[in-house]
Amino acid sequence: KIYSASTTAPVNIAVVKYWGKRDAKLNLPTNSSLSPAAALSPRTPSRQTACFRELKALRKKLEDANPSLPKLSEYHVHIVSENNFPTAAGLASSAAGFAALVRAIANLYELPESPTELSKIARQGSGSACRSLFGGYVAWEMGQAVDGSDSCAVEVAPASHWPELKAAILVVSAAKKGVSSTAGMQATVNTSALFAHRARDVVPKRMEAMRAAIRNRDFERFAAHTMADSNQFHAVCLDTTPPIFYMNDVSRAAIRAIEALNTLEGRVVGAYTFDAGPNAVIYYREKDEEKVLGFLGELLAPEVAEWAGKYAKVALEGYDNKLFEALKDGVSRVILTRVGEGPIRTDDT
Ligand code: DP6
Repeated sequence: KIYSASTTAPVNIAVVKYWGKRDAKLNLPTNSSLSPAAALSPRTPSRQTACFRELKALRKKLEDANPSLPKLSEYHVHIVSENNFPTAAGLASSAAGFAALVRAIANLYELPESPTELSKIARQGSGSACRSLFGGYVAWEMGQAVDGSDSCAVEVAPASHWPELKAAILVVSAAKKGVSSTAGMQATVNTSALFAHRARDVVPKRMEAMRAAIRNRDFERFAAHTMADSNQFHAVCLDTTPPIFYMNDVSRAAIRAIEALNTLEGRVVGAYTFDAGPNAVIYYREKDEEKVLGFLGELLAPEVAEWAGKYAKVALEGYDNKLFEALKDGVSRVILTRVGEGPIRTDDT
């Protein structure tokens, strides 16, 4: 007999970054982290044939308690995974993939475990994957236990609490990144002095501030912490021996552009963040979409920004255009998205 289950899981781009493991086997982090879920979902259906020790063990327990259930844990599992996102370019596609995989198999096995429980399993595939079991605004609590039993994802707020948050992803390079997150963070833990300061003194306070900013829909605070956290994460990478460079000239031009836009407007309209790659993610509010896209449209190549010309220009008074020049050739694609829902069952499609 063939049983099947399909699901999507959202991509997530952290605004408080996970960087560093206290246990590399269980993917237990050295600090908590937080991300909005993006309304972008690589699709991962799974069909029957083998594997997944933990999910299988949970199914086995369920079968022992309900003898009438078919012995699914004895079947083989065949997995089909689809991705509509550039892989391994620092665009969090592996997180969505692992989350979808765990969600689909849990659905297949009809497991009653909550998303928080399942997040502990997804975490072992890739740390950031645990946050993709939820939609909306999601925190990964680092936990203290050595067995990882309290290192899991929790919902901070549903997408409906603050649906105005949108994001423009400037794809700088869809090429595979140089240093994997796993290798990079191990090198950081072993060699960076700045890293301990970040994990101990900065992130705990920032997590609280970020929760409050989301609770109050306070974009200024959300933006300030998002940019500061990205900058500190990349500073920690630079403080690693040998240093790790994820951002490039195009990334730095994007930072200068958003800083200039915020200065010209006299308020914070956009916030940039960069994961383990050169792509820029710009968070903004729906009401400022014209401002942000209009501005980007001026700086990007016309074939990349098809909306260019649709919105009013922002006069770049007092700025040398050379500062942003790298964006024209360097950004190959823009993906527009917004804060979205968690995994969605797609069994019948
Ligand atoms: C910079 O989750 O990819 O995107 O646990 O080794 O698989 P592994 O690492 P991964 O690291 C993500 C790092 C980050 C920040 C974040 O998503 O929080």
